[in-house]
Amino acid sequence: MTIVMTGATSGIGAEALKHFAALANTKIYIGARGKGRDVPKGTAVIPLDLSSLESVRNFAEEVKQQLGNTKIEILILNAGIQATDNIQKSNEGFELTFATNHLAHYLLARLLFPNLAKGGKIVITTSDAHDPEVIFFGPKTLDIKALAYPDENSPKGMRFYAATKLCNLLTARSLLAIGSKHNNGVRVIAYNPGLTGDTSLMGKQSAFTKILLPVIRPLFYFISMFKPAFFMGTAKRSGEALAELALGKVTLPGDKIYASLVKGKLTFPNISHLAQDDSIRDLLWIESAKMVALPE
Ligand SMILES: NC(=O)c1ccc[n+]([C@@H]2O[C@H](COP(=O)([O-])OP(=O)(O)OC[C@H]3O[C@@H](n4cnc5c(N)ncnc54)[C@H](OP(=O)(O)O)[C@@H]3O)[C@@H](O)[C@H]2O)c1
Repeated sequence: MTIVMTGATSGIGAEALKHFAALANTKIYIGARGKGRDVPKGTAVIPLDLSSLESVRNFAEEVKQQLGNTKIEILILNAGIQATDNIQKSNEGFELTFATNHLAHYLLARLLFPNLAKGGKIVITTSDAHDPEVIFFGPKTLDIKALAYPDENSPKGMRFYAATKLCNLLTARSLLAIGSKHNNGVRVIAYNPGLTGDTSLMGKQSAFTKILLPVIRPLFYFISMFKPAFFMGTAKRSGEALAELALGKVTLPGDKIYASLVKGKLTFPNISHLAQDDSIRDLLWIESAKMVALPE
């Protein structure tokens, strides 16, 4: 089996990678920034910095070169960041969280789509924060330009991050629609790992955070009695669930696209109203195509 993956060097993705690396006859290609990555046997590390569209293109080319005629069975787009302001920019001048979480993965999915095996699978890590009915700061509208080039009216902080996770879900829906059109049997899953405390999403875990975590975990447990989405899971379980979905150990019922880990269990709720909107889905696809200079 051949797996290509982003975000496999830390947190949820690193835990999922352990499951893939334990499989026989499996080759895994991961995209990672920086040098000297410590990865399990059978894993090839190819340079990838998602904050640069040029790096994404180089990564896709290198993957294709190394694959030769081999097709990708599973493509996992898991990397993500949550920049704390709207100021940081990607290499091409887009806002950094939008560029990393959405634009780079959009481009990568499009570049590698022709290399997917018939019946292959794409898993995109989204978040239940895409849905304002589940997480109060979830997006109620989507203004793509306000994410790419923020101004004073753009969402801030967690709201901004949540909007990029809505973009992941909408992209998953577009990819599914394209797969159906080409009749190549490509399946797409948008995965919400749920609140996962012991990852580096909010920055590298300091010694202080590690001490604090066991203290705040019971608080979130208490809140989760009323609001299940606030249950704080572990990277181990969130990564295991990602692997279960990718490997088909857990399958989604009917025509569902969204799998959400709630209190450690995979559930299959409806996606937000905005995420169900085909006109917003198509608009994001078209605007993103322009931003990465690909045809619609
Ligand atoms: N933790 C949560 O509560 C939570 C909840 C819902 C959804 N999620 C989603 O889960 C996914 C994984 O997050 P996590 O919590 O496991 O966070 P994490 O520990 O920070 O892992 C993020 C991964 O993304 C990679 N990455 C970030 N920026 C990159 C870039 N410019 N180029 C290449 N790789 C880059 C990181 O690589 P480095 O090793 O180089 O940093 C790392 O492997 C994200 O999509 C996140 O939005 C997380």
